[in-house]
Amino acid sequence: MTVRIGLVGVVLSGLLIFSGCNVNEYPDYLSYEFRTHGTVVDNKRSELTLDPDKAAQLNELLKPHFGTPANPVVRGTPGDDMDPDDAALLTAPDMQLSDDALKRGSILYRQHCLYCHGINGDGGGPTGQFLNPLPRDFRTGLFKFRSTAKVDDQGKVDAAAVTPPSRADLLKTLKHGIPSASMPAFNLLPETDLNALVSYVIHLSLRGQTEIAMAKRLIGGDVPSAEDITEEVKKIAKRWQKDASQRLIPKPPSEGWDVVANKGRSTNWEQGRHIYLTVGGCVQCHGKDGSSSIVEVADNATRLDSWGHLNPPRNLHLGVYRGGSRPIDLFYRIKLGIAGSGMPAAADFWQSEPVKPGEQPKPMRPFTDEEVWQLVDYVMNIPGQRIGGGSSAAR
Ligand code: HEC
Ligand code: HEC
Repeated sequence: MTVRIGLVGVVLSGLLIFSGCNVNEYPDYLSYEFRTHGTVVDNKRSELTLDPDKAAQLNELLKPHFGTPANPVVRGTPGDDMDPDDAALLTAPDMQLSDDALKRGSILYRQHCLYCHGINGDGGGPTGQFLNPLPRDFRTGLFKFRSTAKVDDQGKVDAAAVTPPSRADLLKTLKHGIPSASMPAFNLLPETDLNALVSYVIHLSLRGQTEIAMAKRLIGGDVPSAEDITEEVKKIAKRWQKDASQRLIPKPPSEGWDVVANKGRSTNWEQGRHIYLTVGGCVQCHGKDGSSSIVEVADNATRLDSWGHLNPPRNLHLGVYRGGSRPIDLFYRIKLGIAGSGMPAAADFWQSEPVKPGEQPKPMRPFTDEEVWQLVDYVMNIPGQRIGGGSSAAR
């Protein structure tokens, strides 16, 4: 009897192994499917949704441009091979969206990411829905942790504009994970695999952004033509490539950070605190002591992120930073803001120069990099300070 069960077991596992069913790859019949998008207007959640017929229509319209989970592609002009015009853009170093990279990325994504981020990257994987914060929905194109900034045609930097992350930013997120959120670190995967995953995340995001634009048209009663979609895909891909390639390089702080690290606290610390409590506006959300207490700032109990989920400001006493804890990481978070989270860019705040008695008031000006470094310095010193006033948001 035991021998017979053993034999049946061996035959069954043989059948599974040799049946051509590879559990690591997506089956060919599977498609990307439209799922409702959560959005927020005036801190209230609303939904972008389609009835089943329109959703099915949209899935079919997008397929020639983005393929299927088993055979993902990015195409402006549909076709088996990339149009030469598309190829220059889509295989550029900042994009790396070749069919091979995406195919490899989709297999790895299925193994390592899908259960949180979902097949189409909406953050609604089977495990995802139980997490807090929820996994990122890549479809809006909003990413929190980036070092990129918009530079206009005249070369002027607009640090407050939201840009996509660079490939290096996404690689950093994959390698280090997101501390205090459930996003794991994948630094044991080979670099080539991490690169393929980055390409696949960009693919899902370009698809999601096109889906949102086209869903809005369908809701308005307008059926987009193949040319409309080609134009939209090209526009979104071009914008991503341009904006993701421009890294903001800050002026170094006047005092070296190694000195600051050794001393534990720089001489500029008081100045950082002053900005934090006054013109920087940080106090409005993070509270006087940085604990983001809901007793001091009642709005912190109801603040929503751009995806429509509760997202209180970080308790700065914990010294745990999701986007990395090096001074340069905090510099980017403060200068550029944290897209989608409600944390504004310091570049959005303008301030006046101190005026001496008898002088005319000077025009308002944006924060200098030195002032942002002073804020970084102050933020890094908060965990050593006494928590005062009320309970903390404990995040
Ligand atoms: C256990 C769940 C989980 C798994 C597995 C997971 N993630 Fe995440 N991921 C998250 C959460 C949660 C966030 C959002 C954190 C936040 O909002 O601070 C996130 C955020 C991200 C972000 C957004 C970073 C930003 O700047 O906004 C990227 C990109 C990402 N994950 C990629 C991946 C990839 C690629 C994989 C697979 C290799 C993966 N994740 C696996 C939970 C997960
Ligand atoms: C309108 C509310 C608001 C204001 C104003 C604000 N923040 Fe935040 N801050 C947030 C929220 C929300 C988060 C959580 C972001 C997230 O989802 O990861 C946050 C997170 C942070 C973090 C954590 C970064 C990380 O990697 O985890 C730091 C540091 C920070 N804020 C510093 C500041 C400083 C300095 C200022 C003033 C220049 C400021 N904040 C102004 C809402 C705000």
